[in-house]
Amino acid sequence: MKRSTLELLCCPSCQTELTLRDESGNTTRNEGELFCSHCERSYIIENGIVHFIDSQELEGFNQRLARFYNRFSRFETIIDWLSFLPMGGERKARTEILRRLELNNGRVLEVSIGSGGNLPYLCESPKVGDVYGLDISLAQLTNCHKLVTSRGWSVDLFMGKAEELPFKSDSFDSVFHIGGINFFSEKKKAIDEMIRVARPGSKIVIADESEQVARVVARFLRLSRSTQNNKVDASVPVHLVPETMKEILVDGIWKMHGRYHGYCLEFRKPG
Ligand SMILES: C[S@@+](CC[C@H](N)C(=O)[O-])C[C@H]1O[C@@H](n2cnc3c(N)ncnc32)[C@H](O)[C@@H]1O
Repeated sequence: MKRSTLELLCCPSCQTELTLRDESGNTTRNEGELFCSHCERSYIIENGIVHFIDSQELEGFNQRLARFYNRFSRFETIIDWLSFLPMGGERKARTEILRRLELNNGRVLEVSIGSGGNLPYLCESPKVGDVYGLDISLAQLTNCHKLVTSRGWSVDLFMGKAEELPFKSDSFDSVFHIGGINFFSEKKKAIDEMIRVARPGSKIVIADESEQVARVVARFLRLSRSTQNNKVDASVPVHLVPETMKEILVDGIWKMHGRYHGYCLEFRKPG
């Protein structure tokens, strides 16, 4: 983690500023501990990843998804490559979302960065600034960290929940999310958090599989077992976007055999 990143962070529970224990004066921190003086929690930094959650404390879908990705992270690259093949390939599938971001050399946050599948396309833009990625799965972040280190990209990684982002308000020039929100435990909370941390006037982009595809995935993951009424709501979460947001737009993405297999929801935080 870059030392300057500390200025962006806050406690995910109470949003109090954090302090770094054992200051060494180094410009990057791969190991250490962040401390919240208000709720007296501490968050470790291990192998360059800041841990804002304890996997044991996750519940509902979040627990199921974290377990799933911790087990199967090593197959994600190949699964993504194969799934995007019939839609024109991974580059097309990812850039049809990423091109909607208004990159201006500022800070970019990817909520649910996974093993970093979007990074090769994001980091090739001359307009990308510092990138920050958060995910609930440590295995995904560990694979992402390997990728980032091998390519020498400036990306800081955080283990945390989309529903409780460990960042101060108005911190990022672009915020985006791809491929996880259909099964978030609390979608409304996650959308509100993306809005909170985005800079006023910036665009927020959210994409995931269509409802039909999500139903197949939910059956495969047996997610209905972890809900009270046995139902997974994978509708486009446009109804969860506050009315105060500007330029709200929903588009079909990932077209195959004349049908869209995903949606992209974008909107602007008022300036
Ligand atoms: C299909 S992967 C997408 C990864 C990456 N965005 C991409 O496009 O390749 C979905 C990711 O969402 C993460 N995830 C699921 N629920 C989450 C939550 N509540 N908060 C943060 N990340 C979550 C999973 O761990 C997984 O890495």
